[in-house]
Amino acid sequence: MINKLVANTLPHMPKKLIWLFSKRYIAGVEMKDAINVSEKLNSNKVKVTIDLLGEFIKDLSEAEANKITYLQIIDEFIAQKIDGNFSLKPSMFGLLLDKEICFNHIREIVAHAAKHGSFVRIDMEDSQCVDDEINIYKRLYKEFPNNVGLVMQAYLRRTKNDLQNFLDFAGEENTLNFRLCKGIYIEPKSISFKDRQEVREHYLEDLEFLLTNKIYVGIATHDKYLVEKAFELIEKHNISKEKYEFQMLYGITPSLRKMIVEKGHKMRVYVPYGEEWFSYSTRRLKENPKMAQHIIKAFFVRG
Ligand code: FDA
Repeated sequence: MINKLVANTLPHMPKKLIWLFSKRYIAGVEMKDAINVSEKLNSNKVKVTIDLLGEFIKDLSEAEANKITYLQIIDEFIAQKIDGNFSLKPSMFGLLLDKEICFNHIREIVAHAAKHGSFVRIDMEDSQCVDDEINIYKRLYKEFPNNVGLVMQAYLRRTKNDLQNFLDFAGEENTLNFRLCKGIYIEPKSISFKDRQEVREHYLEDLEFLLTNKIYVGIATHDKYLVEKAFELIEKHNISKEKYEFQMLYGITPSLRKMIVEKGHKMRVYVPYGEEWFSYSTRRLKENPKMAQHIIKAFFVRG
């Protein structure tokens, strides 16, 4: 109840107050902030994936502007020799307004990254976007098999089937590349698993499917239980370090992150930045009021 109350009240609190907790999870407003954070992470043997904040847009001119910014981000991060890649949300490029325009913008970004030998990950948004985001990935994979990847959400009942379809689509010798996460949006029970342990079990089944079929996977979680189970699966199936990495969000569970890096596993941190930090923070909170408990904690615990 308290979580819900806090989540609903936050959008009405002063921006400065919200920034106090958000700055733990967001690199900053400017591109240079994201570069600074990335350099620090790189110096601790952590790769990054850069995300420009912003989601659903109302006008296609915003999609064009977002594309231009992403092209600049790619140029700048590559010029600064940051060890990282890029993540984006299709709704920022007009997925819900015009699918073909959205596809063309993302294609341009992926082509630009590919020209530099880099990589773009398509984030997975709420369930209304899943089919379209899978289609975008499949189309881009045909043209840029080494430069694009997608996110899969273990809480969706459909995910196992989607993964099998991907394998049938790309064949055994593939360069498919997924980030596997639990899923952040609030979805109906008819299409998603709700129970925490049930989501974990499906996460591990999906992970084992990916690892045993030699599909590259970003193991994206801060859940220590899943991290330890992932270690067991990697050992059990003797998975090469070339076929997986761990991924975490900026500012969350840094000690678990350090432990994974010290064990010699590849780690990548998702670094969000941009002017849209305020609406991003408050929307995330409304979607997942459980996060409010971490925010309350951030008010009291420093560092
Ligand atoms: P869980 O939520 O159980 O958290 C495990 C532990 O982590 C908690 O007990 C707590 O200690 C800590 N923790 C979690 N959240 C915290 C917070 N905000 N502050 C402080 N501590 C916190 N989802 C999606 O739908 N589409 C996507 O594209 C992505 N992309 C993505 C990229 C990356 C790199 C990550 C790590 C995650 C995503 N997600 C996502 C989000 C994901 O689906 C999921 O909601 C979160 O990772 C939380 O799930 P965990 O597996 O971490 O477990």
